[in-house]
Amino acid sequence: MPDPHPVDLEPLKKEAALRAVALIQSGMRVGLGTGSTARYAILEIGRRVQNGELTGIVGVATSEASDVLAREAGLTVEDLDPRPLDIAIDGADEIAPNLDLIKGLGGALLREKLTEIQARRLIIIADHSKIVSQIGEKSPLPIEIARFGFLSTVERLRQIVPGGRLRQPGAQPYVTDNGNYIYDAQLALDGDIAALERQLKGTLGVVETGLFLGMAERAFVASTDGVRELSR
Ligand code: 5RP
Repeated sequence: MPDPHPVDLEPLKKEAALRAVALIQSGMRVGLGTGSTARYAILEIGRRVQNGELTGIVGVATSEASDVLAREAGLTVEDLDPRPLDIAIDGADEIAPNLDLIKGLGGALLREKLTEIQARRLIIIADHSKIVSQIGEKSPLPIEIARFGFLSTVERLRQIVPGGRLRQPGAQPYVTDNGNYIYDAQLALDGDIAALERQLKGTLGVVETGLFLGMAERAFVASTDGVRELSR
């Protein structure tokens, strides 16, 4: 039955985002996440840059959409290069108690992982609906796969994670910013998630998975009771 009093999650996403943006200081190189929560962070960074509170900020965007949004918000955006980022701020689809994450329902998992692995601090922002007691509880695991031979890769993935499907919102499969497809896998609970990550990464045709293990330093999680700060 639908909740008769659904909570509006938008103000919560924004509250979490503002807490994370407060960690940014002038001169920082900042990884800009993707999705409806990261959007609030990008807009707030842009606002602070525009009013002069923050200077010398360089953003590195994790998707084409965030790149466009950041530039519209007045931010300087550069491509990822080997230099470390001071901080990255992003949303997540699931947050486990140890801050292991599932990411990628928004389709940006590859650029997110490439960017956020280079960040000295990865700060996650979310509303309370993203909290789980174990990975795979609520969200499928997005896995980015090469387009060439994708049906074969899907068959290989079905041997490892039997439940799941190619992401296909319409007549054609969903295509990522990198020209790849996404397989959304249903995970078995209580599995060894680190071993699964290794197995998936070793599977021919898999480009990257949405498992972000041991990467996040902190999460700001907002509910109607306020913003909780979680750390590893
Ligand atoms: C995109 C992501 C997003 O961070 C994740 O899907 C959360 O998005 P939202 O804040 O819209 O719920 O991983 O690839």
